Amino acid sequence: MAALAVGTFHQGFAANGNPPSNVLSSGAGQGFPAKFLWGAATAAHQVEGNNINSDTWLLERAPNTMYQEPSGDACDHYHLYEQDISQLADLGCNAYRFSIEWARIEPEKGFFSRAELEHYRRMLEVCHKRGLTPLITYSHFTLPRWFAYQGAWENPESADLFARYCDKATRHLGDLIAYGATFNEPDIPYLFHWINFPNAPVGMDLAGIMAAQKSALRQYLNAPQFSGFLIGDAVKTRENMMAAHTKAKAAIKSVKNIPVGLTLAMEDDQAEGVDSRAAEKQADVYGPWLNLAKSDDFVGVQTYTRSRIGAKTLPAPQGAELTQMGYEFYPEALEHTVRYAAKETGVPVIVTENGIATEDDTRRVEYIHRALAGLKHCIDDGVDVRGYIHWSLLDNFEWIFGYRPKFGLIAVDRETQKRTVKPSAILLGKIAKNNSL
Ligand code: BGC
Repeated sequence: MAALAVGTFHQGFAANGNPPSNVLSSGAGQGFPAKFLWGAATAAHQVEGNNINSDTWLLERAPNTMYQEPSGDACDHYHLYEQDISQLADLGCNAYRFSIEWARIEPEKGFFSRAELEHYRRMLEVCHKRGLTPLITYSHFTLPRWFAYQGAWENPESADLFARYCDKATRHLGDLIAYGATFNEPDIPYLFHWINFPNAPVGMDLAGIMAAQKSALRQYLNAPQFSGFLIGDAVKTRENMMAAHTKAKAAIKSVKNIPVGLTLAMEDDQAEGVDSRAAEKQADVYGPWLNLAKSDDFVGVQTYTRSRIGAKTLPAPQGAELTQMGYEFYPEALEHTVRYAAKETGVPVIVTENGIATEDDTRRVEYIHRALAGLKHCIDDGVDVRGYIHWSLLDNFEWIFGYRPKFGLIAVDRETQKRTVKPSAILLGKIAKNNSL
């Protein structure tokens, strides 16, 4: 196993821990930088199935839950990972981003399951065997139930508990991890304040809806401290997650000096009118995280659409094409957020998520073409971008929206678990193989 750990990463980091400067393969032609990461992403709870020790499993099944349906077996990626990872490699990609599940690894406070760590080790080994650089997320929204019962990120001990988990996981897996992200989109709770939610009760924003869910859950579970990532108090959650990132990064690096960062949900915020609050939104949602990322090895950018901001967040323009999520189809958003994140942080950017929910794969094909054309403009202008990881590898469990939105490059028949590769997957694989548009 140790032999797999050396020499298989697509991107090495210098002895001082700093990423090397990228070498452009063909200047302003169609080519991307040498060793560019091309791949797709998943998150444990959305694909593995039966993540029963997680807070989200509980939330999905609570009365009056916001979840349209429970996750159940999901895509059974827990058992079918080898075929899924191999498929990604067969397409021509060279990277796989996935999350390891804290609720499986530490199902009871202080008990770390060697068997579950071995499971993730096997996944990492398959990645290396198939020439895929693994990018690991230590926490992609879901939390162990016990952690949620103790207040989740509202608990003052949460940062230390998370750092301990990251330490244990890195001791077991670190030699096979190429890139580590502590958190997926920790800026989401603040972003909620700026999103219009179609069916919200009058005067209530998404953040208000989440707070209402939390009190209902606390009552139902008779658990006065119960909280979670999305339903948590945004201020306390941010404070503790920022501390957790710093502590976890130190814990990971003291075991293995892999490049560590975090990934951010970033909308392309476009100012409309003289009273636009776009700058205020950027400072409120991304500001503190981008500042923290300045001392990281990279920043993960995750962009789906734009948001037009006047005195408040405006709806998509009249007649605009909408995706299954109700977002505007706007692939150019990626170019803008990548430029913004690179400028604000000064560290290399990896696009760790980008995609659309649609039943019509021809729209995904178009989206990928246009998003990547924008990304190429950034690179041609000297922006240090290291990879493009599409969301998502599989049609999967889209949180409160259940299985209806189709983000996958690969369709999944949830009855039989049969996979069907879509044309968009072939396109991405071809671009990856050519390292060129
Ligand atoms: C999340 C994913 C989610 C995707 C599409 C991101 O916010 O990281 O878990 O499925 O967007 O909505």
